Amino acid sequence: MAAKRFAACFLRLVLISRLVAYSFSLPLNWRSLNLIKKVNRKGPYIGLITVFPPEETAFFQIGAFKPNQKHPFVDLSGRRFLVGKIHDKKVVYVRCGVGMMNAAAATQQMLDLFDILGIVHFGIAGNANNSLSIGDVTIPQQFSHTGIWDWLNPNRSLNYDEANLDFKRYNVPRGDNLLGHIGFSYEQFFSEYGKANTARPLFWANTTRQWLQVAANLKGIKLNQCLNSSVCLPQKPRLVVGLRGSTANIFVDNAAYRDFLFQTFRVSSVDMESSAVVMTSLSNGFPVIVIRGLSDLAGGQSGHNSIDTFGSLAAINACKVVVQFIKQLHLDTREPGFPRSIHP
Ligand SMILES: *[C@@H]1O[C@H](CO)[C@@H](O)[C@H](O)[C@H]1NC(C)=O
Ligand SMILES: *[C@@H]1O[C@H](CO)[C@@H](O)[C@H](O)[C@H]1NC(C)=O
Ligand SMILES: *[C@@H]1O[C@H](CO)[C@@H](O)[C@H](O)[C@H]1NC(C)=O
Ligand SMILES: *[C@@H]1O[C@H](CO)[C@@H](O)[C@H](O)[C@H]1NC(C)=O
Repeated sequence: MAAKRFAACFLRLVLISRLVAYSFSLPLNWRSLNLIKKVNRKGPYIGLITVFPPEETAFFQIGAFKPNQKHPFVDLSGRRFLVGKIHDKKVVYVRCGVGMMNAAAATQQMLDLFDILGIVHFGIAGNANNSLSIGDVTIPQQFSHTGIWDWLNPNRSLNYDEANLDFKRYNVPRGDNLLGHIGFSYEQFFSEYGKANTARPLFWANTTRQWLQVAANLKGIKLNQCLNSSVCLPQKPRLVVGLRGSTANIFVDNAAYRDFLFQTFRVSSVDMESSAVVMTSLSNGFPVIVIRGLSDLAGGQSGHNSIDTFGSLAAINACKVVVQFIKQLHLDTREPGFPRSIHP
C-alpha cells in the first residue's frame, strides 16, 4: 500500500517537473507573456530598436535611459527587451542584431506584443554622399532595399527592374566577363491598409512625415566633434533630415559600389537594417523614424575604414538626436490614423 502511494506520488512529481520544464521551453514562455501583460498596463511605449553592441554602449553611455524598477526587462526569442523611460516618455528598447532578418523579426515582435506607439530605429551607417561628413547624423525620408537582385546572364535584357548594375563595365583589364548584370528589384509590400493577401511592389519606403517634421526642428542640435582630447573631426558634425537611405544584407566597403548606389538611387547612407524596420512598421500601420550617425565612407576612403575610430562617436551622436527627438514628441493623444496592435 505504502509502495503504491509512493509510486503515485513519484509519478505525479515526474509529471509536474515535466510540465514545468515544458512551460519553460515553450517558444514564448508564459512568464514572459505574463510580464508583458503587466508592462502593457503601464503603456503605451515608444519602441526603440538599435542593432549591435557598440550602439548599445553609446545608448547607455549618454545616460538618458532610466530602467523601470519593477519590470526592467522581458526576454523573448533570445533578445532582451528593456523597459524604462527617457525624459518623461515610456520606452521599450531592444538590440535586434545585424541584418534585415533580425531587424524585421525584432520589429514585428515588438509591435505584436508590446503596447507601442511607434518605432524609433537608430545606430550608425556608411556615408555615400560626398557632401556629408563622418560624425553627421542622417534622418532619411525614404529607404530602399538594395539587395533584392535578379542576377542575369550578359545577354538578358532588364526592362522591368528599378536599376541595372553591369559588372562587365568594372572589368580590369578591359574585356567582358561572364558575370552579366544585376537588376535591382522591388519588395513585396503587404499592408494593414492594403487589400488582404495582396502585396504591392515597393521600392521606396517612406518614414513617417509627422515625425520627420518633429526631427526637422532639431537641426541645430550640438553634436560631438571630438573622440577624446587628441582626436577630433575636421568640422562640426550636423544633423540632416529628409535625404534617402539604402539597406541590404551587405556591408559596403567598396568605392565603386558606393558611387553606383549614390549615382543610381541618390542615397546618402548605407546600412543593413533600416529598410526592414521601416517596411515592417509600415506594414503594421505604425509610425517609424530612422536616426543614423555616419561612421565611415563605405569604401570611399583612402586607407583604413574609419568605423573603428569614429564608430563610437557616430553612435553617440545618433543617440543624442534620439533623446532630443523623444523629448520633442507630443504623445498626449495618439495621432489619428495610427492604429494599435493587438496585445496579449
Ligand atoms: C545567352 O547567354 C547564355 C550563356 O552565355 C547562352 O547559353 C544563351 O544561349 C544566350 N541566349 C541568347 C538568347 O543569346
Ligand atoms: C513617399 O514620399 C515621396 C516623396 O515625398 C512621395 O512622392 C511618395 O508619394 C510617397 N509614397 C507614399 C506611398 O506615400
Ligand atoms: C584618443 O583616441 C584615439 C583613437 O581611439 C587613441 O589612439 C588615442 O590614444 C586617444 N587619446 C587619448 C588622449 O585618449
Ligand atoms: C547630399 O547631401 C547634401 C548635404 O546635406 C544634400 O544637400 C544633397 O541633397 C544630398 N544629395 C542627395 C542626392 O540626396
